[in-house]
Amino acid sequence: MIYQPSPGRYAGMEYRRCGNSGLKLPALSLGLWHNFGAIDDFEKCRSIVHTAFDMGVTHFDLANNYGPPPGGAEETFGKILKSDLKSYRDEIIVSSKAGWPMWPGPYGDLGSKKYLIASLDQSLRRMGLDYVDIFYHHRPDPDTPLEETMGALDAMVRQGKALYVGISSYSAAETQKAVAVLQSLGTPLLIHQPKYSLLERSVENGLLDVLSTRGMGCIAFSALAQGLLTEKYLNGIPADSRVATADKRGNGALDPSALSDERLRIVRQLAAVAESRGQSLAQMSLAWVLKDPRITSVIIGASKPMQVLDSVRCLHKLAFSADELAQIETILSSSVTE
Ligand SMILES: NC(=O)c1ccc[n+]([C@@H]2O[C@H](COP(=O)([O-])OP(=O)(O)OC[C@H]3O[C@@H](n4cnc5c(N)ncnc54)[C@H](OP(=O)(O)O)[C@@H]3O)[C@@H](O)[C@H]2O)c1
Repeated sequence: MIYQPSPGRYAGMEYRRCGNSGLKLPALSLGLWHNFGAIDDFEKCRSIVHTAFDMGVTHFDLANNYGPPPGGAEETFGKILKSDLKSYRDEIIVSSKAGWPMWPGPYGDLGSKKYLIASLDQSLRRMGLDYVDIFYHHRPDPDTPLEETMGALDAMVRQGKALYVGISSYSAAETQKAVAVLQSLGTPLLIHQPKYSLLERSVENGLLDVLSTRGMGCIAFSALAQGLLTEKYLNGIPADSRVATADKRGNGALDPSALSDERLRIVRQLAAVAESRGQSLAQMSLAWVLKDPRITSVIIGASKPMQVLDSVRCLHKLAFSADELAQIETILSSSVTE
């Protein structure tokens, strides 16, 4: 099959400026953490990527360790790029990351220059690319001087192997320091990638303010709490769901312990608010994150093309009334800590 992207692909998507930079990102990006490993059906992976690109999703988010096995998602994406998207490279933003364990020994983890530079070279080889658009340090490393880690990001930009750089899961204070180090080197820190959803709101305690003051973009991950913020677990655990397949996926996949009665009670009440807005719970959960203008994009995960189509439709209704927001706060604040 020869893939022909939809000619109307840019009509329905919203593109948001990433902080003070010249780069715009689609309000919804596609992440390849799960469902794109060697264990997944290649034709399905391909059709998820096609569906996303056809809907104006121009940004694909990867990391060295996405799979399984680690590196598997970059290999899958590299095959799709080669067979279907080669001539669209300039319409696509590809990101990768390093920071979690990738290969044995002292140089395959965390934040040394040795690890980060080697990892980006490996990622480029797996994806068959000359450069990534954004390269992230995936998590803070308490033992490597920040000057070394940020120096590695700066070097990648100077080598032409990354156009922009970002950080993920850094605290507000760590982010301030990282911005200052990169500024002194002459490379802007483009973007931060934190976890943000109705059920995980720690970014509201200072990080979003830092990003907006520093002119950085923010791209949220796990806005659907890996599928928990959808209707899918309200009547049991579907056999093809992330929870049911967590054992073979590993790598932090949502497992049955997340599906407590208390969590499901909250999810059921949120689903009722979504229904009254005429949205699926997935759509409302994504819209709720995107309602904040400091959010540049939300990275969605998907195991089926239909999920991409459903999620992108959140853009039809991003606004919330004061009453809807109050209802949501009441539901969330009624949550009993477990
Ligand atoms: N920087 C970091 O440390 C970090 C960490 C985690 C993720 N990320 C990035 O963020 C991306 C997204 O993370 P995530 O996979 O946790 O995202 P997510 O969007 O919270 O969860 C994705 C899962 O939700 C379900 N889903 C998605 N759309 C749906 C819909 N419309 N209706 C019903 N169910 C739906 C699917 O579950 P089923 O598979 O069960 O069908 C899908 O696999 C990752 O791929 C990665 O790029 C980054």
